[in-house]
Amino acid sequence: MPLTDMTDTTKDDTMHADTHTSGRPPRLTVVGTGYLGATHAVCMATLGYQVLGVDVDAAKVEALVDGRVPFHEPGLPQALDEALASGRLDFTTDFARAADFGDIHFLCVGTPQQPGSHAADLRFVDDAAAQLAARITRPALIVGKSTVPVGTAARLRELVRTLSPAGEGLELAWNPEFLREGFAVQDTLRPDRLVFGVASAHAEQALRQVYDPLLEEGTPLIVADLPTSELVKVAANSFLATKISYINAMAEVCEAVDADVGVLARALALDERIGGRFLRPGLGFGGGCLPKDIRAFQHRAQEIGAGEAVRFLDDVDAINARRRTRTVDMVRDLAGGELLGTRVAALGAAFKPNSDDVRDSPALDVARRLQLEGADVVVYDPEAAENAHRVHPDLPLAASLSEALDGSHVTVLLTEWEEFQAAQPEALGALVSRRRVLDARHALDGDRYLEAGWEYRTLGRPVTAGVGSPRGRSEPGPGEQEQLLPTAPAPSAQAAPLRL
Ligand SMILES: NC(=O)c1ccc[n+]([C@@H]2O[C@H](COP(=O)([O-])OP(=O)(O)OC[C@H]3O[C@@H](n4cnc5c(N)ncnc54)[C@H](O)[C@@H]3O)[C@@H](O)[C@H]2O)c1
Repeated sequence: MPLTDMTDTTKDDTMHADTHTSGRPPRLTVVGTGYLGATHAVCMATLGYQVLGVDVDAAKVEALVDGRVPFHEPGLPQALDEALASGRLDFTTDFARAADFGDIHFLCVGTPQQPGSHAADLRFVDDAAAQLAARITRPALIVGKSTVPVGTAARLRELVRTLSPAGEGLELAWNPEFLREGFAVQDTLRPDRLVFGVASAHAEQALRQVYDPLLEEGTPLIVADLPTSELVKVAANSFLATKISYINAMAEVCEAVDADVGVLARALALDERIGGRFLRPGLGFGGGCLPKDIRAFQHRAQEIGAGEAVRFLDDVDAINARRRTRTVDMVRDLAGGELLGTRVAALGAAFKPNSDDVRDSPALDVARRLQLEGADVVVYDPEAAENAHRVHPDLPLAASLSEALDGSHVTVLLTEWEEFQAAQPEALGALVSRRRVLDARHALDGDRYLEAGWEYRTLGRPVTAGVGSPRGRSEPGPGEQEQLLPTAPAPSAQAAPLRL
């Protein structure tokens, strides 16, 4: 049974007509078919609904119609193929068609950070809602999924009802999305929880109907009012960002006294009240969500007179930024104090593995800073090369791991792709000029690198601490058991670098 936190949503019910589906399943549109929207559209079709995806980007629509996912997301290309073949999924740029087709319209457009401000840029949400509403002539429900500042849903609810010929027959609800890039399909079809922000019983019923297949499987459901639902999302992201920055703050302290944050993190993780997830020290968070969401939350909190309550997010952001600076400093140290002319193999450009997303990517930021300091940087990423090139066209990219390592003086692991973790230190050592590696993600098996003659460094650990095996990682991977570090002393890190 779903865990339902029932909000009284009955008082406004008389104002709303049914979405008039005459007993048939509702037809869905998904407005904005980026990382979130394309995944949502495909997954809703997988669940059996007729779905029409809408985007202003004609090239993206064309790609999706052709069965090409315009970004890297494991499992999504196959699911798209199947959904298109079923005849239940189509994409368009035509808002009139979408308004005519849909009973329930999911808004999944971007809410990036405004240039020169911490505030969220709501132009796309406002525009998509307005474009759609002006063309909706019968009772329908718009469901926002984008991450927005609290108060946006209530404002949009008024706006769409003013603009739509359907008037108060057009209802608006919020249903924040928690999917993780890299796991987007499974997170959409098997989410940890569903949150419905509603202002009427009708909206709640319509959302229950759409998500019935997931609710039937026991997915927990929280029904809330509009502002609470908006806050759930930004509160969740703020908590995750804080947890990451907390352990990275501990890494800073460890660095000051030659203590080992890897050991510290694992000891904390074994406390059930703390847990190990999002407690892995390293280069910190990035991507299209966490950084802009905590900034927009602070901005909005100030606007509503609650700025003091989330002022700590300033520190969370600052700690995160300092890890990038520290990584550059450590690469410089490994290079012998001078980056000019140093050949650096930068492994990773995506903000995290299993994604090609480079928005606010710590990896790309560090690679770029190294280049600006005069290093001869070559970046390799299994999936994000194209996006990295779009952002920094003058950053040299390698087509393979071995090409990136060829002749490098310092190797720095910036995104913990499986390919990098699985590579053999001995084989990699044969490619480089100097066996010096900075593991900025605590992802490599430090012992094996040391045994293979590498100088191995990582953030928040003494130079002599070599234990970085997957067995000892602070955040276990899927299916892994959390274990304590072996107590044997770490091998010396002073092995002479191998010159080829
Ligand atoms: N990416 C994630 O993992 C994720 C997870 C949870 C929540 N979110 C939130 O979802 C929202 C979308 O994020 P994303 O990563 O999918 O962004 P994205 O940039 O990948 O996609 C946004 C899409 O909206 C389209 N668009 C812009 N204006 C439009 C309009 N007026 N009408 C129709 N389409 C329009 C763009 O062309 C683009 O395809 C954001 O608010 C984000 O914070 C994202």
